[in-house]
Amino acid sequence: MIIKSIKLINFRNHTEYYLECLDNTSLILGANGCGKTSVLEAIYILTRGKSFRATDPDIVKKGSTFYRIELEYQNGEKNIVTYDGHSKTFFISDKKSKRLPKKNKHPVILFLPSDLNLISHSPSRRRDYFDFIFSEFDEKYNSCLLKYEKAIKQRNELLKKEQTTSDDVFSWNVILAKYGVDLYNFRKKFIQEINSKLTPTYHSIAENNDQINLLYKTDVTDMNDSDYLKRLDQDFRKDLYLGHTTFGVHKDDYIFEFNSKPANGSASRGETRSIVLALKFIEADLIYQKQHQKPIILLDDVFSELDDSRRKCLVKNFKDNQVIITSVEDISNY
Ligand SMILES: Nc1ncnc2c1ncn2[C@@H]1O[C@H](COP(=O)(O)OP(=O)(O)O)[C@@H](O)[C@H]1O
Ligand SMILES: [Mg+2]
Repeated sequence: MIIKSIKLINFRNHTEYYLECLDNTSLILGANGCGKTSVLEAIYILTRGKSFRATDPDIVKKGSTFYRIELEYQNGEKNIVTYDGHSKTFFISDKKSKRLPKKNKHPVILFLPSDLNLISHSPSRRRDYFDFIFSEFDEKYNSCLLKYEKAIKQRNELLKKEQTTSDDVFSWNVILAKYGVDLYNFRKKFIQEINSKLTPTYHSIAENNDQINLLYKTDVTDMNDSDYLKRLDQDFRKDLYLGHTTFGVHKDDYIFEFNSKPANGSASRGETRSIVLALKFIEADLIYQKQHQKPIILLDDVFSELDDSRRKCLVKNFKDNQVIITSVEDISNY
C-alpha cells in the first residue's frame, strides 16, 4: 500500500495541514518545532492504530476540542480518525469502528533519532524498544505482554502489603508463568531470526570482518510453566521483603555484541550507528517476510545524525519502499 495523501486538523500545532506523498520518497523539511514529527505521528495513528509517543489528550491542538486525520491510499482506500476529547472513532472506507481493524493496519518501520542510542540505553528502554518491534512482528506477542504486565502490576501491589500471603499472589503467579514462558519463547525466536541476518546486513553497511551478535539475556532459560511457577513461589518471601517481583521476563535484556564483546564500550559511535541501521533493515525484512507487505518507512530526523556513507546506505536499502523523511536540513541530494 502506498499513501497518497494525509490531512491533519487540530493535530498538535497544526490547525490544518495537507501532505501529498510521492510513491518513493517524500521529504518534510522545516525548523525544529514546526510539527514534522507530528505528521509522522498522524500517519502512524492511521496505519497502526495509535500514536508512538503520546495519548490523545496530548495530541489535540491546545485550545481545541477535537482532532481529525484523513489518510488516502493510492488504491482509493480512504481512512479517517477523529478524537472528540473522550474517544477516538475510525471511519474505515465509511465504516465506523472504535479501533483500527487488523485488516486495515499497514506495516510501518519507524526510525527515531533516539533509536540510534539503543545500544547504550538502559535495559528498560531496550526492553521497551524490542517489545514495540516484536508486537509489530506478531499481534499475539502484544496480547501476551499486556496480560503479563497487568499481572506484574497486581502482584507488585499485593507485595507492598505486609500481610500478603503466598496464597494471595498464587493466581497472579499462574498468569505470570503462562505468559512469561510465552514471551520468553517469542523473544528467543525473534532474536534468533534477527541474529541470522545481523552480521551479513552489517557487512552491507560496513565492509569489514566484524561479527555482530544480539544476545538475549534472561533468567528464564528453557523453563516450562511449572518451573516458572515454582520459582515465583520460592521467591515469595524475598519479593515480599523487596516489595516487587524479582524474577521474570520483565527483567530481560538484549545485549549487542561486537566481535564477541558487548558493543556498548567496545564499538565506536559510528559502528554502533551501523549496528542500529542493520537492525532497522532487518526489522523491515522480517515484517515483509511475516506480513507479505512492504512496510512504509518513516524516518524522523535521523539523517542529521548520520555521516554521508550511512545516509547513502539508508536511501539505497529502502529504495523499493515508500519512505517519508523529516529533516531540518535539505537532504534532497541523497
Ligand atoms: N497538543 C498540542 N497543541 C499545540 N501545540 C503542540 C501540541 N503538542 C505539541 N505541540 C507543539 O508542536 C510543535 C511541533 O512538535 P513536533 O512535531 O515534535 O515538531 P518537529 O518534529 O518539527 O520538531 C512543538 O513546538 C510542540 O510544542
Ligand atoms: Mg521532530
